[in-house]
Amino acid sequence: MPSTPGMKPGGFYDSHSDTQGAAIDTFLPWLVDAVDELPVPAAGGPPLTLLDLGSSQGKNAIRAMRGLAEAIRRRTDAPAWALFSDLPTNDFNRLFVNLFPHGPGSPPPIGEGVFTAAVAGSAYGPIVPPASVHVATSFNMIGWLDALPPARLPRYILATGPSARGDRSAVTEEEREPFRRQAASDLHRFYRARAGELVPGGKLLVQVFGRDEARDRSASDGIYDVVSDALLDLVDDGSLPAKVYEDLVFPLYFRTAGELVEPIESEPDLASTFRVDRAETVETPVPFNAELERDGDLGEWARRFTGFLRAFTEPIVAAAIPANLPADEILADAYRRVEARLEEDPARYEFRFISVGVLLTRTPARRG
Ligand SMILES: C[S@@+](CC[C@H](N)C(=O)[O-])C[C@H]1O[C@@H](n2cnc3c(N)ncnc32)[C@H](O)[C@@H]1O
Repeated sequence: MPSTPGMKPGGFYDSHSDTQGAAIDTFLPWLVDAVDELPVPAAGGPPLTLLDLGSSQGKNAIRAMRGLAEAIRRRTDAPAWALFSDLPTNDFNRLFVNLFPHGPGSPPPIGEGVFTAAVAGSAYGPIVPPASVHVATSFNMIGWLDALPPARLPRYILATGPSARGDRSAVTEEEREPFRRQAASDLHRFYRARAGELVPGGKLLVQVFGRDEARDRSASDGIYDVVSDALLDLVDDGSLPAKVYEDLVFPLYFRTAGELVEPIESEPDLASTFRVDRAETVETPVPFNAELERDGDLGEWARRFTGFLRAFTEPIVAAAIPANLPADEILADAYRRVEARLEEDPARYEFRFISVGVLLTRTPARRG
């Protein structure tokens, strides 16, 4: 059973994810620049297939596929599929509305001659037929663990641990190890599945929130500190049992760029199947931080920061609240406190979006 209950539904993620969108805008040009070497079918030939993994409600994913399809149209007029995939816990209704916003007569969302479909399936296994995909993308997804390891983190809520401004000893290396192993195993299965699905010469672009060891920074800094502090406030005032906090573990792992390429370098079957074209750590822009610099409006910054983190943290906090407690009240209170804490002490919760990314080419598999 996958460990994520999905993003906050009803379009909430779509409306609060321009930070993830800005990261996509930073990495998509890698792929656009590589379109010239893509093997593409001729006009009238078999369809070209684009596959996005972990598309959520679709706003960012559709924009990315549109940018990619525009670049591919410079090479071929072949009909194309743009496939959007996610777990069954995803708000697929919203995705379909985004794909077909105005009903009959709607302009094609990705471009002329590009047909769309949604696929429910886990990116950690194959989800389309072998050798059928020309370009696969995955944005802000691969850090979501396929399953939570049987491990507890009673003094924090995330295996990465608190930022340098928090208590680093709250998660020990020993406690982190099962999460590192789970993430490594997930990544192997992800790459193996894509190796099967991509045509020779096909491209895979992966971007995800990550960690920069050299700068001692993680994209988790600030976000999980403020969620943890707000939940501890609720424990202190008696509205949340301490055990709920002690049992809560976010099913996430923040990788370095090195960890993202490690399986390609160390696993012989993957090393003979993929070529690493680019692998980098990039601090991508955060629109609400940029706005704060422009207008100095701390209240608005705290409101936007809260919306951003609420879109992906609330479903997990909600799932941890026992059925006998008033979940809606607790959640409303928790995110009120998140916003208040951000406004009171912005320096403690500084957030930088450390993104890691890799661009791979599927090479013909070695025989024998
Ligand atoms: C933060 S959202 C990213 C959405 C979009 N790609 C973007 O960048 O805005 C992460 C998405 O990954 C999905 N996800 C998590 N684990 C997955 C898995 N094993 N297979 C497919 N999708 C997964 C979640 O359901 C969620 O919709």
